Amino acid sequence: MAPIVAVTRPTLPGTGLERLGQFAEVRLWPDDVNPTPDQLRDLLTGADALLCQNSDRVDAAVLEAGERLRVLALPSAGYDGTDVAAARARGIIVTNTPGVLHETTADLAFALILMARRGLLAAADRLRTGRWTETRLDAYLGLDVTGASLGLIGYGEIGQAVARRAVGFGMTVQHTLSRKPDDALSRAVSLDKLLSTSDVVSLHVPLTEQTRHLIGAAELASMKPTATLVNTARGGVLDESALLAALRAGRLHSAGLDVFDREPRNGVGDPLLEHERVVALPHVGSATEATRARMIDLAVDNIIAVLNDKPPLTPVP
Ligand code: DGY
Repeated sequence: MAPIVAVTRPTLPGTGLERLGQFAEVRLWPDDVNPTPDQLRDLLTGADALLCQNSDRVDAAVLEAGERLRVLALPSAGYDGTDVAAARARGIIVTNTPGVLHETTADLAFALILMARRGLLAAADRLRTGRWTETRLDAYLGLDVTGASLGLIGYGEIGQAVARRAVGFGMTVQHTLSRKPDDALSRAVSLDKLLSTSDVVSLHVPLTEQTRHLIGAAELASMKPTATLVNTARGGVLDESALLAALRAGRLHSAGLDVFDREPRNGVGDPLLEHERVVALPHVGSATEATRARMIDLAVDNIIAVLNDKPPLTPVP
């Protein structure tokens, strides 16, 4: 009998789903929003494997329904949406997809750095809304990226990919909250030093109990008032109300945000998302056709390996 693989979306990028269909009975969740915990439990019942997004909350109570479940494959680097300890306690292998999305996510982080620092979203908006009427030399003034100092909070594969791009912009790079020492691209410093001396601070740590609200009012206050904060990691790492207060008080130049406390989220009327010095995107860090297809392929490969009694390719650490 073919194994059953539950998938929490009706469609996926690339051809991974077709490959899965040749090997297993694929049970697709028909909606394109996160299933509720009860719906997830129904979907899991009798399934041998689950392919779900990090935003699908898979906690211990949900996992109880997965009596046959052997592998839970996440097509993402992050795995904060899954109770990994509870899964392990049930003998379920959890896998993620490192190594295939860091360059694309670093591109996005750099796009946010450029857009926020140069005020490009507000400038484009003026043009699109018929308000480009002046030709003054003192209009649309942003801050330079070339030659600025970049502070990377977290220096894993995405942080290092951002550092490689920064070198081309003549930026000096420092990093913190990583076991990685100084290297040719970046110098290891304390969090305090990084916050107080960086022109751009970019977040690249996973969301854990230790990193929740790592950047709050005190940390924002210790940054330069001309600094830009970029978050392509997880919304929970940053205290969003403290960020809004800092921007409103002129204690921070700008922010580029791809991730939020609540996702998805309606930006209309949201004071943080509508702030003129905030560039906000709907969690698209890894969203290119090729990268998303690679993420699904790796998740599918992990499922096929485990269900064939082979070791997973990329189990979560
Ligand atoms: C990741 O890989 O964790 C990205 O945020 C996509 O969810």
